[in-house]
Amino acid sequence: MQYNFDEIVNRRGTTCVKWDKSIMDFGESTIPMWVADMDFPAPIEVQEAIKKRSEQSIFGYTYIKDEVYDVVVSSLKENHGWDIKKEWIVFLPGVVDGIATSLNVFTEKFDSVVIQPPVYPRFYSVANAMGRNLLLNNLKLTDEGYKMDLQNLQSTVETEKPKLMILCNPHNPIGRVWTKEELKALGEICVKNTVIIISDEIHSDIVYKGFKHIPVASICKEFEQNSITLMAPSKTFNVAGLGQAFAIIPNKDLRNTFTTGREGYSWGNIFGITSFEVCYKYGERYKEELLEYLEVNIKFVEKYLKEQLPNIKMHKPEGTYLLWLDMRKLGMNKTQLDDFIREKVKVRFNDGYSFGKVGEGFMRMNIGCPRTYIKEALDRLKNAVNNLKIK
Ligand SMILES: Cc1ncc(COP(=O)(O)O)c(C=O)c1O
Repeated sequence: MQYNFDEIVNRRGTTCVKWDKSIMDFGESTIPMWVADMDFPAPIEVQEAIKKRSEQSIFGYTYIKDEVYDVVVSSLKENHGWDIKKEWIVFLPGVVDGIATSLNVFTEKFDSVVIQPPVYPRFYSVANAMGRNLLLNNLKLTDEGYKMDLQNLQSTVETEKPKLMILCNPHNPIGRVWTKEELKALGEICVKNTVIIISDEIHSDIVYKGFKHIPVASICKEFEQNSITLMAPSKTFNVAGLGQAFAIIPNKDLRNTFTTGREGYSWGNIFGITSFEVCYKYGERYKEELLEYLEVNIKFVEKYLKEQLPNIKMHKPEGTYLLWLDMRKLGMNKTQLDDFIREKVKVRFNDGYSFGKVGEGFMRMNIGCPRTYIKEALDRLKNAVNNLKIK
């Protein structure tokens, strides 16, 4: 192994949301396992490229050179088997920016937009802030895990006539990597009812053995022409603060509308684009070793819960470094569970409720960190749960 993901790097005092905000809100001793960034250094090549660029000392306007477009084209081909053209790529400072732009240019106030809760909270916040009407096609929780409710999706789009659907693939927070069959069914419903698919695929490179990420747009020409795919190196290589993402928009009309709507807005910055190129060119080894480490973390949590906290059930992720923990058997309402986690467990998870009402009784745990943090967090959780039983 080239990378030592067990290494503890002190992030305190760096205006880091994950640690410093957690300390501010929850107290010094809290272990932060919320916000989707990892406590691992970025690939060595990224660190070096940023240092080298900073040594140039002048940080004037910059443009995106052709080679950067080339790395996107080859990464899509190699990682996801999708042949894209350079002109389909639009650089952005973030994936949420791409969602906001899409809502802005393809919908109007009061228009309906479909999302599939429990899902990433900013899908709600951005659409709500723009006065869009959210249609909630809740995922179905079955004995085999979460599934899309395709029947309800079909009837919802036929009756409510939304203009747009925001897909999350892999799905944050429940960790599903949607299958070709599921995506095909979803895509067909959307194409038939002229619903544009905004596919947030930011977690697409963090997919575990036995599963494969399929960009919905790569399935067929009709889907390609009906989708905006949003991706970024930020999750895979832990460079979210560098702010560089991209959209792939094969349909010329959609692309023109999207880029016209962004006229005057930023595409990113020097350090973002420097790291972006290096991540995709040289990050393969980092990614492989990271996936191995994360998989062991997941197995560690799975075993620990099974043996020592059987009342807490983990939804084993197929992708993402996020674990969706079902704590409903603890028998607490939202406020009680929040208070319990904050005051007794002293670990900061993301409250399941923030992913939608259907997330009540769940917590999202970020396992993108050295295993010692995970062990300590689980020990704290176990002690707090055991104390509940004693009372
Ligand atoms: C599904 C999903 N989309 C988007 C983002 C944020 O993307 P960005 O920081 O590029 O706006 C996150 C971050 O956690 C996420 O999980």
